[in-house]
Amino acid sequence: NSKRMMVAGNWKMNGNLEMLSHFKSSLPVFENIDVVLCVPSVYIKEAVGANFSVGAQDCSEHESGAYTGDISLSMLAELGAEHVIIGHSERRQAYSETNERVAIKAEKALENGFVPIVCVGEPLEVRESGNVFEFVGEQLAAILNRCKQQLDKLVIAYEPIWAIGTGKTASPEQAQEVHAFIRSELKKSSELYSQISILYGGSVTDVNAAELFAQHDIDGALVGGASLKVDSFKIICEHA
Ligand code: G3H
Repeated sequence: NSKRMMVAGNWKMNGNLEMLSHFKSSLPVFENIDVVLCVPSVYIKEAVGANFSVGAQDCSEHESGAYTGDISLSMLAELGAEHVIIGHSERRQAYSETNERVAIKAEKALENGFVPIVCVGEPLEVRESGNVFEFVGEQLAAILNRCKQQLDKLVIAYEPIWAIGTGKTASPEQAQEVHAFIRSELKKSSELYSQISILYGGSVTDVNAAELFAQHDIDGALVGGASLKVDSFKIICEHA
């Protein structure tokens, strides 16, 4: 894989200031890959200034207004976030985020100068019924439709829901198959298809990262559980 790789950690609702300071002092510089840590929004300002870029885990699609509890992209930018995860399956499921809402958020993130890491991926029943391409294809179509202008800035993360937090990672072949499908869909929308990073997420660890990264269309990882320990996160970055 000749593309610049990205390893993004997603702390989800985990961590504290002490853990953050440990990451800031322990994670070395990685010259040839993009390392991003997506921390809870309240920690973004504190996270900035170390050897990694900082991302948020969600954003509002609105600029301001009566949206209690939400955080706008301009607020996240003020704190120093450069990336934002959008449409994580946990938000699609627990907060009913639709394909269209995810696409709008991605579009707004691009307009605000962010690198959106937009998540797609199927639940187990879709995998078992053999409709993965159809399901992921629909999620992707909504995103591409709204983000056509700046596709080269977009990062896609393929996260099969059955592999998230389960310890049951997709095999490198299973992941590559869907990544190649995503690449072929991107090709229909943009000449820049080969420059768009497609990350894999779902039980990535320091043990399985290397074989996933060896796949042609896997350009890095979105790491949940293994991003909570600096040693495992560092090893994953070293493999990229
Ligand atoms: O955003 C990260 C993914 O949900 C993966 O989480 O590595 O704990 O399976 P996981």
